[in-house]
Amino acid sequence: MTSTRHFALIPAAGVGARMGADCPKQYLPLAGKLMMMHVLDTFASSPLIEHTFVVVSAEDGYIRDALASAGHLEKRVSVLFNGGETRHQSVLNGLKAVREQVADDDWILVHDAARPGLTVELLERLVSALREDAVGGLLALPVVDTLKRSDGFGRVAQTVAREALWAAQTPQMFRYALLRHALEQAAAVTDEASAVEALGLRPRLVEGSPRNFKVTLPHDVSLAELHLKGNS
Ligand code: C5P
Repeated sequence: MTSTRHFALIPAAGVGARMGADCPKQYLPLAGKLMMMHVLDTFASSPLIEHTFVVVSAEDGYIRDALASAGHLEKRVSVLFNGGETRHQSVLNGLKAVREQVADDDWILVHDAARPGLTVELLERLVSALREDAVGGLLALPVVDTLKRSDGFGRVAQTVAREALWAAQTPQMFRYALLRHALEQAAAVTDEASAVEALGLRPRLVEGSPRNFKVTLPHDVSLAELHLKGNS
């Protein structure tokens, strides 16, 4: 079946405490526009994406102005003011809110507002890799560094073999009904794939890109700008 549609769901209800900025990090200016607008523009410019939903907190005082100055997004993006205490809860609240607009078999691409380096090419790579997939999957990168597990006191307790290890990115793409069920069943999870894994399923790993990293700390902002300005 190719009639299933693709929707984007962007959890953006975090405060970005580690960034230590005056506003939530998704509203920081970055290479000429707000971080969030890079993400929304990418999804809006892919013909594979039916519509994009952004989940913000009920108190969000930024999104209306941000969208008011981006008229081209008016028909492509809707805002849900029902973010939760955690990313997990924000995604689940978003899924519940769009129930009437989305079929059980439609694909949902969940993408962090704090990953402005996503490109149309990357998101379309994910969509085409998963077109016939029974489970769904995510963008991720093979780990290249040797990994150490700390003993909690600043010393190495163990070296972890990096073979077969991947670092999860987003988008993470699953069908609506499966994703909602997985998130409703799961204890606290930090990504959608782990909720689906907890059901005994194996999401597909699709190679992402270093430029699709999550902006978390203050120095990440200039690195993200380098990628966005250089468009590399
Ligand atoms: O804090 P972190 O960078 O891990 O957040 C990842 C994404 O989840 C961000 O886009 C953030 O806005 C979102 N989030 C959310 N609701 C929360 C916490 C985080 O939508 N309560």
